[in-house]
Amino acid sequence: MRVIITNDYESLSKWAAHFVAKKILDFNPTPDHKFVLGCPTGSSPLGLYKELINLNKKGIISFKNVITFNMDEYVGLPESHPESYHSFMWNNFFNHIDIDPKNVHILNGNAPDLLAECAHYEEMIVEAGGIDLFMGGIGPDGHIAFNEPGSSMTSKTRIKTLTTNTIQANCRFFDNDVNQVPKQALTVGVGTVMAAREVIILCNGHTKSRALKHAIEGGVNHMWTVSALQLHEHGNIVCDEDACADINVSTYKYFKDKQRIEGLLDTYINMF
Ligand code: GLP
Repeated sequence: MRVIITNDYESLSKWAAHFVAKKILDFNPTPDHKFVLGCPTGSSPLGLYKELINLNKKGIISFKNVITFNMDEYVGLPESHPESYHSFMWNNFFNHIDIDPKNVHILNGNAPDLLAECAHYEEMIVEAGGIDLFMGGIGPDGHIAFNEPGSSMTSKTRIKTLTTNTIQANCRFFDNDVNQVPKQALTVGVGTVMAAREVIILCNGHTKSRALKHAIEGGVNHMWTVSALQLHEHGNIVCDEDACADINVSTYKYFKDKQRIEGLLDTYINMF
């Protein structure tokens, strides 16, 4: 696993955005050979999306030949609701880049048959050739997408009931009222994320420090679903100093030494 420790949220966002942009550029997508990108929501990726928009506006990267699959969506929340993940993605990313709307895929949490919706989503990912790069965040309880503690590490897209912890964490988007937060979501599985050719997880702030510790130093454990990344051949976690509060000093120092020796930090931050 590659762990990059940046000074703050701003450099984390820049690092991650440039990493993603470089992957797309190197892939050189065409209409017949599109790049497939997995997309998260939440506050963590906001800076990353802002920088990708910036690179797109400057003409450095294009999303014309990029297909996206979002990680998750609430069940029963209208798409037009300001806190739906549909609204989030269009407002914070898709409306500002040159992506073709028909290449955007977001789970429909209002589908008449939710199980069929999930199965179809997996089929579409396969038809697209699989996901080249899955971007993600981490919940304070170590979940990726909405794969709550106890999720199968080989799970595919399905319905998940949210934990109280997640409902409380997300109520900041719903007038701080837990009763307004949907109790279920459709989510790609841990297995869906792990099937991507590469994964990059963003982890910032002190509230994520326990999750980061379990992701890096704990064993692979379905109670911290992000720990599945330990089994991925191309897993990356980019975090900030605040998120490192709970990892061992030796772990911290190793990854800092590694990124200095390999020049990993500056390479991406100063890439464009
Ligand atoms: C939600 C999303 C996750 C996201 C997490 C963290 O639970 N389903 O994909 O990683 O929130 O969100 P934030 O980045 O706002 O801390």
